[in-house]
Amino acid sequence: VETIETVAGLRQRLAVSRTRGSVIGFVPTMGALHAGHGALIDRARAECGVVVVSLFVNPSQFDRRDDYEAYARTPAEDEEFCAARGADVLFAPTEKEMYRRPQATIVEVPEMAAHLCGRFRPGHFRGVATVVAKLFGIVQPDRAYFGRKDAQQLAIIARMAADLDMPVEIVPVATVREADGLALSSRNRRLSAEERRAAPVLFRALTAVKASIEAGRRDTAAALSAGLAIFEAEPLARPEYLEIADAASLQPAGRIEGPVLIAGAVWIGATRLIDNLSWPD
Ligand code: PAF
Repeated sequence: VETIETVAGLRQRLAVSRTRGSVIGFVPTMGALHAGHGALIDRARAECGVVVVSLFVNPSQFDRRDDYEAYARTPAEDEEFCAARGADVLFAPTEKEMYRRPQATIVEVPEMAAHLCGRFRPGHFRGVATVVAKLFGIVQPDRAYFGRKDAQQLAIIARMAADLDMPVEIVPVATVREADGLALSSRNRRLSAEERRAAPVLFRALTAVKASIEAGRRDTAAALSAGLAIFEAEPLARPEYLEIADAASLQPAGRIEGPVLIAGAVWIGATRLIDNLSWPD
């Protein structure tokens, strides 16, 4: 893998691929790479001539400074990971390189960011949409790969790209889970052994809500009660939200009448975990 730290250097490298007509696949990340990112890189590798992975811990999407500072940073391991997975380019800019001048432009999809995680992380999705738009401008990918674990992020980015006529195809990739259901996340490494044992409670709560819908419940509150009962039985879990939203608009669903996203966030100690399931599959 070729590691490039500057925008000019990356543009020069990709100009060569573009003149050869290669399809450029892009996997944006904040590093601390794990098998979930591996699935994104593998899919890009299978579908594209050139695979670019970016590594940038974006300060503007953190609503808390302590969370930004605590975010795992493992650049040497990330480079090895990208090489082993067959990525061609690792774009790893410094903050100074990414923000070479004060940014006066922001990108926002406010309605889709109003609920679910957006309700608890003010400004988070504005930071994500703005940095992803900037990365799309830098890399100019044909295809960009995002995990379904961050379902609200994926929906917001797909909508941003469609609304702004960005010439990029957004490719969703299935969530990768541990054997006990815990969705892979860079934040999982912060869990103590006892917290790790408790962490699958979120997946179990989501699964219970989905089973309740599958059993025929169409009232949102009734379907959610099955998941809330699971949280109550786990003393280490402090649920932040458990919601059912319309799968396309991400607005809260009163009754379940079409495809929905069942999503939740839970604090286990000092670590916030998120996950979701879709109904129907
Ligand atoms: O999902 C992430 O890792 C980040 O939100 C992203 C898309 C790389 C933007 O900083």
